[in-house]
Amino acid sequence: MDIVMIWTILLLFAGLLALYLTTSARSRSKNEPPLDKGRIPWLGHALEFRKDPFKFLTRMKKKHGDIFTVRCAGLYVTVLLDPSSYDDVLLDTVSLDFSRYAQMLMQRIFSLNFPGRNAASERDWMEKQFLGHGLAQLNGVMRENVHALLSSPEMLQNQTDWKEEGLFSFCYRLLFRAGYLTLFGKENSGELSTTVYKEFRKFDNLLAKIARLSLKRDEKKRAGELRQRLWDLLSVGPAESWQQSYRGYLRDEGADEETQRRAMLLQLWTTQCNAGPAAFWFLGFLLTNPEAMSAVMSEINSLSPLAETNSASHWRNRRTRLCLTALSVRCYASPLPPTSPESPEMDPEIHQEPEKFKYDRFLKADGTAKTDFFKCGRRLKYYTMPWGAGKNICVGRHFAVSGIKEFIFMVLTCLDLELCDPDSAMPPVNTSRYGFGMLQPDGDLEIRYRLKRSSPT
Ligand code: HEM
Repeated sequence: MDIVMIWTILLLFAGLLALYLTTSARSRSKNEPPLDKGRIPWLGHALEFRKDPFKFLTRMKKKHGDIFTVRCAGLYVTVLLDPSSYDDVLLDTVSLDFSRYAQMLMQRIFSLNFPGRNAASERDWMEKQFLGHGLAQLNGVMRENVHALLSSPEMLQNQTDWKEEGLFSFCYRLLFRAGYLTLFGKENSGELSTTVYKEFRKFDNLLAKIARLSLKRDEKKRAGELRQRLWDLLSVGPAESWQQSYRGYLRDEGADEETQRRAMLLQLWTTQCNAGPAAFWFLGFLLTNPEAMSAVMSEINSLSPLAETNSASHWRNRRTRLCLTALSVRCYASPLPPTSPESPEMDPEIHQEPEKFKYDRFLKADGTAKTDFFKCGRRLKYYTMPWGAGKNICVGRHFAVSGIKEFIFMVLTCLDLELCDPDSAMPPVNTSRYGFGMLQPDGDLEIRYRLKRSSPT
């Protein structure tokens, strides 16, 4: 071994030692949460976290309880799983500012860099669109689009024949297309919506890997091509659409053409990645729990007898609205969609057997909504958090609930829908997507459907 090599090895060793000493120096002080640095110097738990964040956090929660700090790639991350402390965190927007992290993800996933972005003014703009008068308008367009898709020739063809499909792809496909047409589309862009959906799903499947920088070389190339293709597909839109108003807003804020173009994909993902998967969990739990399905169907039938609902206008009447309201209380809130281990939905001290579907979980004995949930004897404000909380709470939540209810109501009343195999169970959760939108299933639930003979369409 020559002298240069010996010196190189010595220097490398000294560097590693210095790195180890500086990054391992931190120790737990009094009044601080348990500190778990992991065995590997500097990296700590980074590899385990990256491999399966869901499993890792579940293991840490078992080991340390509701609050703990872990070391991941040199960073010390404190994890808070106690919902009664959420307000302290949410209200401290100065020390806990997520905007830098959000910008880093925007750049990494969507290749979008908009340094002048003003989050507060964008939030104001979004609230005008998705609350109040704007919401009523969008809900109307969404309703028309859901109806149009469910009564389109592709559904109506061969009225008597059963069609087979995975429930996840059925829900995602139809709700995505309806949502896309509502916010980005134009009349007669049905075919384009199918193309955008297909490309979007491919991109969405790579998204968690893009964010975690774990793409293989060919996947990286693919992700870049898909991004480019989606930018192109989204670059045309009718003058009157939500999409064009958003572009106008960005222009006024000083964003150049390219930034405006790229921002469309970010908005497509934010507005369309959750509703379809949510509808899947909802319908899947109903199909695999006949008791819950018959409770929902008897409610629908009692409020809106199918025999009477034979004209399109009847859909928009008061009875339908009543029925949708009832659906929302009785069952939209009932199943717990699978969420991450840090969410209150998965805490067994708050919800007994959280992994099990219990359709009346959020109902009192008298049928009204149950809102009192406790942890360690304290009544909780945050006992479910599907929309996030605080100043970043989902601005589209009312639009989402309305669209999902409309879709589910239409599916249950227009279609005969059943499992291909009556004994099939819900597929497990795909935990690799954890942290990026509503969790999706690992696999699918095969269903078959056809138009009901007494369908109102
Ligand atoms: C079941 C459906 C949906 C779920 C579960 C959901 C969930 C969420 C969550 C958890 C956040 C908060 C992220 C954070 O804390 O930073 C969020 C943000 C957001 N959501 Fe939703 N969302 C859904 C549907 C929608 C729809 C349909 C739209 C619009 C059409 C929408 C628009 C937005 C926007 C614009 C934000 C960013 C808000 C901000 O940063 O101020 N979401 N969503």
